[in-house]
Amino acid sequence: MRDKVKEIYQEIEQYEVQSKEQLDQFRIRYVGRKGVIAELFEGLKQVSQDDRRLVGQELNVLKDFAQQRLKEYTTTLEENQNQETGPVPDLTLPAIPNQYGALHPLNLVRQQIISIFERIGFSVADGPEIETDWYNFGALNFPDNHPARDMQDTFFVEKKSEGAPADMLLRTHTSNVQIRLMERQKPPIRAIMPGRVYRNEAISARAHCMFHQVEGLYVDKQVGFKDLKDTLYHFVKEMFAKDVKIRFRPSYFPFTEPSAEIDISCQICHGKGCNICKYTGWVEIAGSGMVDPNVLQNCGIDPNEYTGFAFGMGVERVTQLRYGVNDLRLYTENDVRFLRQFQGA
Ligand code: PHE
Repeated sequence: MRDKVKEIYQEIEQYEVQSKEQLDQFRIRYVGRKGVIAELFEGLKQVSQDDRRLVGQELNVLKDFAQQRLKEYTTTLEENQNQETGPVPDLTLPAIPNQYGALHPLNLVRQQIISIFERIGFSVADGPEIETDWYNFGALNFPDNHPARDMQDTFFVEKKSEGAPADMLLRTHTSNVQIRLMERQKPPIRAIMPGRVYRNEAISARAHCMFHQVEGLYVDKQVGFKDLKDTLYHFVKEMFAKDVKIRFRPSYFPFTEPSAEIDISCQICHGKGCNICKYTGWVEIAGSGMVDPNVLQNCGIDPNEYTGFAFGMGVERVTQLRYGVNDLRLYTENDVRFLRQFQGA
């Protein structure tokens, strides 16, 4: 019996497996339930009581050995097979570069604007793009039929009744969010409102019927024009360059008093003169002003107790100055050659 065990052990040692068939034969002969080793276990009953323990141990070693070999042969065979599928690739070929995406430039700049204001304590507020006349105009101190409504060529959506002025419209600015915010929150309020706005304009390099704004609002006790200036000056220095110059030009908006338009020194030509600044060295970047007391009142905030400033800027304009994008249509054409330029920006 022990000789037989030794013999089979040597047999397994010498066994060569090169194909699946040989592997099957190996399994049937040595590991299977009707194989030679199983047969030997059967024969153990006939072995004398004295030897049985020792032979049993040897048989177990043999069984483990056969199983171990089977495992090894199976994996080598699988590895060989994997390598055999298809021709060996040309290892000298250059790798195919991974395609990676880029943020849309407007998204990128919007994010930059948000993070500058977030760092000085502004939160981000959101509101509807389809809006009532009241939130887009009325509450912002635009009287009914006031010509100022013509300043912003409005897309009207729905009329309440035949002949009545349209009540639902596409918002022309994100100031509607300022109203909604002031209605539901007590001062201090310090927030910016990024969002998409619509105006009925023919699409060209310089105008679009859909564009993006970030407006800002700060309402608290004793907020003054100086705070407006400081905040906007901080913003343009962070956004553009430390040496950027800023100027405030008196202007008019129904919802602010006094109002100012904000210009910065041209970031494209740096004062030399170019067609973006129309050879003046200055470009307009935002509208701003102190929130009109009527607007505060419309939102249930006491103008004798609180004051505030507001501003609004176009994301497309900031992107133009930051990245030199000169045609508004590029933003919506989805030309990957344009978009790829912002990879890693
Ligand atoms: N809402 C104005 C616009 O869209 C911008 C603005 C906001 C001006 C806040 C002053 C204060 O033109």
